[in-house]
Amino acid sequence: SPRPKPLIAGNWKMNGLKASASEFGNIVAGYGAELRGKVDLAICPPATQLVPFAVVALGSRISIGGQDCHVKASGAHTGDISAEMIADTGATHVIVGHSERRTDHSETDAIVRSKTEAAWRADLVAILCIGETEAERRGGTTLAVVDTQLAGSIPDGATAANLVIAYEPVWAIGTGLTPSNADIAEVHGHIRQRLVARFGAEGARVRILYGGSVKPSNAGEILKIADVDGALVGGASLKAADFLGIAAAY
Ligand code: G3P
Repeated sequence: SPRPKPLIAGNWKMNGLKASASEFGNIVAGYGAELRGKVDLAICPPATQLVPFAVVALGSRISIGGQDCHVKASGAHTGDISAEMIADTGATHVIVGHSERRTDHSETDAIVRSKTEAAWRADLVAILCIGETEAERRGGTTLAVVDTQLAGSIPDGATAANLVIAYEPVWAIGTGLTPSNADIAEVHGHIRQRLVARFGAEGARVRILYGGSVKPSNAGEILKIADVDGALVGGASLKAADFLGIAAAY
């Protein structure tokens, strides 16, 4: 089956004051016809910038996403943001289950599953993150860890239109380290097999992004690997030249 159109998504994490709108403007300006024909782009800014970025992105075909959502639509949850609120800004995507949420906020697979359901309730595409720690990689349990995360965090009803998986080895995030191409191929192939076993033809078309120290200089080789359908980019998504360089490497 033909490869899905790749998605290059930028996760700005807790970075970006209103002055950073100009850097986002440079991304929008650089996403010309040629690039648009090759790859889809998304930027997930901090919640404070969702509204202005969504306005700047209007008409550009760049998608905007949140970085997390609450499981409920509204209510007494001070400091939290619902999927409905994210959708209300004009955003279309939301990251769920990022390893930093799993670590800093003790998010379990069950919570990530509920957040994915919340995303779908609000008609958002869930970018669901999984990945092993360094100790799990060294212990040889990477595939087992990924299996547990996939089984526990993806709700029934996943389709190629409502779900994107991001495989982010925790030890590769922000470290400059990346797995070998063979290791990426092994994990992505394994994830694909599991998605197909559970969701059939839809699972075959769900995009599987690689994340962890992706930059313009390594994007070309990583994006060539079978079942790598794009990238989730942290640090290198903060600079328009780097982010567009990664997109152009496809
Ligand atoms: O979600 C993307 C991220 O965790 C990867 O970060 O800075 O290694 O590209 P970075």
